[in-house]
Order: sequence, then C-alpha cells, then structure tokens
Amino acid sequence: MARIIAGVTSSHVPAIGAAIDLKKTEEPYWKRVFSGFERSKEWMAKTKPDVVIAVYNDHASAFSVELIPTFALGCAAEFPPADEGWGPRPVPVVKGHPKLASHIAQSVILDEFDLTIVNKMEVDHGLTVPLNLMFGSPKEWPCPVIPLAVNVVVYPPPTGHRCFMLGRAIRKAVASYPEDLRVVIMGTGGMSHQISGPRAGLINSKFDKAYLDGLTKDPRKLTRIPHMEYMREAGAEGIEMVMWLIMRGALDDKVKEVYRFYTVPASNTAVGHIILENAPRATKSKRPPRAMRPAAKGAAKGAAKAKRAAAHEAKQDLVRSKR
Ligand SMILES: [Fe+2]
Repeated sequence: MARIIAGVTSSHVPAIGAAIDLKKTEEPYWKRVFSGFERSKEWMAKTKPDVVIAVYNDHASAFSVELIPTFALGCAAEFPPADEGWGPRPVPVVKGHPKLASHIAQSVILDEFDLTIVNKMEVDHGLTVPLNLMFGSPKEWPCPVIPLAVNVVVYPPPTGHRCFMLGRAIRKAVASYPEDLRVVIMGTGGMSHQISGPRAGLINSKFDKAYLDGLTKDPRKLTRIPHMEYMREAGAEGIEMVMWLIMRGALDDKVKEVYRFYTVPASNTAVGHIILENAPRATKSKRPPRAMRPAAKGAAKGAAKAKRAAAHEAKQDLVRSKR
C-alpha cells in the first residue's frame, strides 16, 4: 500500500527562482535564504520519496481569468516549465505519476471533492521553486511529482477547513493505492506578504511563527481562520497559506517536527519552511503480544514455585531418611 510519510511546506517566491537561475545564491542576501534549506535538501536526499504531491498555485501561467479551477490535479505524464514572461525557467520537465494521480482523482471525487482533472498543463515558479529548494538543481527531478493547483489568486479561494479536509481525502486515496509507494506531500506559498497597494511589503512575523506552531501542534485551530484574518494579518497574498492545510490534512494528527526555518525578507516576502513526519508504521515485534505477557510471566513464576517446592520436598525426604 502507498502511504504519506511526511509533509513539507515552503514559500515559492519567484525571486528565489531567479536567484538560482542567475547564479546569485552565494550573494549575502540570498545565501541567508538558501542556507536555511541545506538541511532540507539533506533530509529529502535521505528520505528518497517515490512520489511527491506538490500543492501550489498557478500565477496566471496555465490558467487565467477565463478558467479558474478551485482545485486542479495534474494527471499528465509530464508538465513542462511555463514561460512567465522571460522564457521558461531552466529547470527539468516535471514528470508526473498518471496512475497514482488518476487514482487520487477518482477517490477524492467519489469522496465529494469536485476537483478538476488536468491532462495538459505547464507549471510555473509556484511549483518549480519549492522543488529547487528541496532537491537543488539536478538534471532531472529525482522522482515523479503530482501537481495540485489551488486557486488562491481570484476571490473566492477555498477555506482553510475545505483545504484540510481535501488533505484528509488525499490521505485516504493514497492509502488505498495498491503499490507500495512512499509519498511526501508539499504545501507551498506564503508566508505573510502583500505585493501591491498601500500595504505592499507587509510582513507579520508574529502571525507567521504562530502559524508554524499551529501547523505542528493544532492544525484544526488554523482551519478556523477566516479569509479576512489572513488578509488583515498576513497581507493580500498571505491567503496562499491555506494550501499548507492540504498538506497538513494529509498527515497524521500527531506529527514529528523535524525541521523549521524562517527568515525575512526574501523579495518583500516572509520565507517559512517546516518538515513534519508521520510516525513510522508499526512493525511486527518479536516479543509476544502484551496481552500474553502477564500470563507467560505467571506461568514462569508458577514453574519456579513448583521447582522450589519440589526441592524443599526432596530435602525433607532426605532429612526423614536420615532419622
Ligand atoms: Fe504565489
């Protein structure tokens, strides 16, 4: 059976992609950002997932105001990088996993999540920047990636609760896939930022850090944050964080936070990143089941008592024979 082993969140700031493509990662401004993902890349290289599900939002690259799917699942065999106005990013084509993606689509739609199936799609920085942050810049991405595009650009975006419940449905879908695959799910976007208007450049570290805490310990509380609160506290584009709740909904209630990184700013945006692991699946113990242990212990105790009684009886026989 397939299973989701871990979840990762990451910002997807376009300027991070530009810094990689223009080889500026060693410049002090960017080194501060990229150094925070060194441990993440090590974790990913060690974890070696078979498939990644990447929850992200399209920025008018594959979709436009003519077509606004709330949830769109990429079921194609591959997803080329989109031209976002200055040519496609020099990153590998994202290879999908059509079989697992189709299975997830069927499962979640029958679970009453009416997502859009996408069989042809280009992917923009929203997806490729987090892949760079977690995998570096390889010639080929090391595993298939299933894109899940969420509308957080045009009102109304889905609620945090809806996103969390979709994560739950994805978790169920993955668990019913027969092949033994280890899946990592990524939630991208955020954290606090606003790119236009009088509050452009807004960053709210207090809100962001509390959100990271909540993601690990009390995600259901986060699902109750209304859109207006995201707008007020985290800026107009802070609503991207609802996508993180899809990732979190796909994990166990209790998770292990293995890494966290937060820095400001990166191109006027707060960069937040967290890695959460599900507890490993229970393995069969060589010890007898707990319920059997007291009885076994009791039997051993009884045998020892009988042995002592027999020894005592033998000693008494000896004493009696000498009389
Ligand atoms: Fe974005």
